[in-house]
Amino acid sequence: MARRPLIAGNWKMHLTVPEAERLATAVVASCADLPDREVMIAPPFTALAAVAEVVRNTPVLIAGQNAAWEKQGAFTGEISPVMLREVGASMVIIGHSERRHIFGESNQMVNRRLRGALQFGLIPVLCVGETLADREEGKAMPILEQQVREGLAEVDAEAAARVVIAYEPVWAIGTGRTATGAQAQEAHAFIRNVLARVYEKKLADEIRILYGGSVKPENIDSLMAEPDIDGALVGGAALQSESFDRIVHFL
Ligand code: PGA
Repeated sequence: MARRPLIAGNWKMHLTVPEAERLATAVVASCADLPDREVMIAPPFTALAAVAEVVRNTPVLIAGQNAAWEKQGAFTGEISPVMLREVGASMVIIGHSERRHIFGESNQMVNRRLRGALQFGLIPVLCVGETLADREEGKAMPILEQQVREGLAEVDAEAAARVVIAYEPVWAIGTGRTATGAQAQEAHAFIRNVLARVYEKKLADEIRILYGGSVKPENIDSLMAEPDIDGALVGGAALQSESFDRIVHFL
């Protein structure tokens, strides 16, 4: 079963509305000749509606960078999955390492957000990844297993088929230090094996697993050559149209 590659740009807390519109216009141009892969961008909330307007009727997909689990309510500072859909998002990043490590989101909270996204019709990109200390202590794989299992708790196979996973080792995010293709492949194959044990092999073989952490034009081709790497979640290099253009055109 062929998994369609997905290249996702995470703009984090960057760009004014006019800057976001300009970058989105460039992304649309980059994607004009790419029928075999999907491209998603996650602007900050303030630019979502404007960016959605720019990509309307193009193949470029829009994502929120996080979402609450309720449709509406007393959740100051949060955004509802229904609100994201209203402005044109079809996907949402859930459990990004910055949410986990700066804002203290637990696997349980990540799971609630993920189930809310599924319930209200968004495709969640569930981020998992070990810290440097986890890796040095030989705990990378158990941590990943726990993040995947707890992140997908109470998600049935039918819903899980819509989930995208992103493996982002915390030590590689924004540090310029990328996992080698072999390190990433090992983690991706491990995650796919966990999915096969939680669900079944056929479903695990269909779920896309992206790599994230200092993805650049210089390393995208070797990462994408690994059999279990189905795409990339790109931060810094997604903010420049030339580098993102090269990344979406991975060989
Ligand atoms: P980076 O960020 O590409 O700047 O390392 C990746 C991410 O946080 O998703």
